[in-house]
Amino acid sequence: MLKESIIKQLNDHINLEYYSSNLYLQMSAWCEVKGLEGCASFLSAHAREELGHMHRMFKYVHETGALPVIGEIKAPPTKFNSISDLFTKVFDHECLITGRINEILSHAIEAGDHSTAAFLQWFATEQHEEEHVFHQILDKIKIIGEEGSGVFFIDRAIGGMVKH
Ligand code: FEO
Repeated sequence: MLKESIIKQLNDHINLEYYSSNLYLQMSAWCEVKGLEGCASFLSAHAREELGHMHRMFKYVHETGALPVIGEIKAPPTKFNSISDLFTKVFDHECLITGRINEILSHAIEAGDHSTAAFLQWFATEQHEEEHVFHQILDKIKIIGEEGSGVFFIDRAIGGMVKH
């Protein structure tokens, strides 16, 4: 059985992963409306991945005999100033997620909860990859530039990064 404080952290994180999925799905809708199909399809695929993360953690909590709890999930923002504004917000959000994973992981290690620590290693590795991908995207946006037809080439480059 997990410590109550760890169950609380994991449940809070289940909500955060759910929010991440909603955030990226909402962002994909903004891109769709702006005619940015590549970015829309990348973000919509990423929203599905986040939902997978939520289910993975939900299942783990459930398997330990604790109760996973889905609380209230706040509404994501609907307006962005530009592609770089949007992806900067994605990158910042992923850094926040990494910080939270590290906090729970540290807590699990201090509590001698090696099962949860081992479970969370997958998330720590995943966060490393995600931060890297979003950093690459921000670099691409900077190199191509959003002036003139730059937006078209950015959209094409990001659309090409969708995992199949
Ligand atoms: Fe599941 Fe991108 O954090």
